[in-house]
Amino acid sequence: MASTIVGLDFGRGVIRAAEVLGAAGARPTLVRYHQIAVPTSAVDRGEVLEKDTVVAALRQLWSQAGFKTRKVIVGVGNARVLVREMSVPPAPIGRIRESLPFQVQDILPVPVNEALLDFYPIAQAEEDGQPVIQGLLVAAIKESVLTMVEAVEAAKLEPVDVDLIPFALSRALLVGPSATGSVALVHVGAATTMVTIAIDGIPQFVRIIQNGSDDINRALVSRLGMDEYQAEQVKRRFGLATQGAGPELRPAFEVIYESTGDLVVAIRNTLSFYLSSRPGAAVERILLSGGGAELNGFPTALADATRIPVRAPQPLERLAIARTVAQDQISGGGAGIAVAAGLTLGSKA
Ligand SMILES: Nc1ncnc2c1ncn2[C@@H]1O[C@H](COP(=O)(O)OP(=O)(O)OP(=O)(O)O)[C@@H](O)[C@H]1O
Ligand SMILES: [Mg+2]
Repeated sequence: MASTIVGLDFGRGVIRAAEVLGAAGARPTLVRYHQIAVPTSAVDRGEVLEKDTVVAALRQLWSQAGFKTRKVIVGVGNARVLVREMSVPPAPIGRIRESLPFQVQDILPVPVNEALLDFYPIAQAEEDGQPVIQGLLVAAIKESVLTMVEAVEAAKLEPVDVDLIPFALSRALLVGPSATGSVALVHVGAATTMVTIAIDGIPQFVRIIQNGSDDINRALVSRLGMDEYQAEQVKRRFGLATQGAGPELRPAFEVIYESTGDLVVAIRNTLSFYLSSRPGAAVERILLSGGGAELNGFPTALADATRIPVRAPQPLERLAIARTVAQDQISGGGAGIAVAAGLTLGSKA
């Protein structure tokens, strides 16, 4: 039987895992998708904070889900990862990678030897009369990635690759007509928001913003003294759609409006930065994903602020779905699957 591979997405208090068959082929098949809750003290902000808890959870996840492989690709994308546009002199990719430590020190917040560096070529171009290869530099804090990889290995899994979540999203979501032209994928998680701008499906620009949907919860807790459960309830129930609610909720709505406004501004500023740094560039549409995108009224607020049409992506379109997939796991439209499944796509492992 052809081999499968599992994409692993560490979310806030949750590990999501998608097993995909034929990940490198034209029509990859999702064969299993499962997730397991873990304490937020163990996984938060895209990081493994308590290794032993995560190892136990991964073991449990494998036995519950019945995954048929131990090969995994681990997703990263948080405050510990930096992505920047970069041009380098033309050279084979191996040579470019070797030269990165000498080129990037001044843009890294840590010493070069504490970072993992990679380069994704996008296009050949000319700058100042010289030929260059334009691409994306990805720099991750080594320690943070190693902790994830160690947890995965301690659970007797085999990490064959570590990949950037924004790349996984672009592979999973940029399909069909919605992928053509210049598209911004905006993925609003609990702790971070990832903005990926792609042209005809190829990522050109990635920013990982330190604002997420949990900022709203935090504001409700710190400013109104709600507990975390109440904050999540009121956020989910009303969001920005406050019609019909009693006056006692007005302070909560003000807080939700304000912190959502901060998040929207952060996204808008990121898009503006991209547009202003590239004369003639445009963003034709926003594909909005992540749990934070579920906030009532958020798509409209983002469209109003950016004057760019906002659409919901189709997270399962890229995949065939095998009968082995538990229907309850994908019944909500499969929003949680995009990252985990996207991590595997294109992988030859
Ligand atoms: N229906 C909803 N209305 C409003 N907010 C929601 C809704 N559903 C989920 N959220 C919010 O979405 C966020 C979780 O999104 P997601 O699952 O994409 O994040 P994560 O992957 O766990 O975290 P991160 O990617 O930041 O590490 C939480 O802040 C949650 O409160
Ligand atoms: Mg996430």
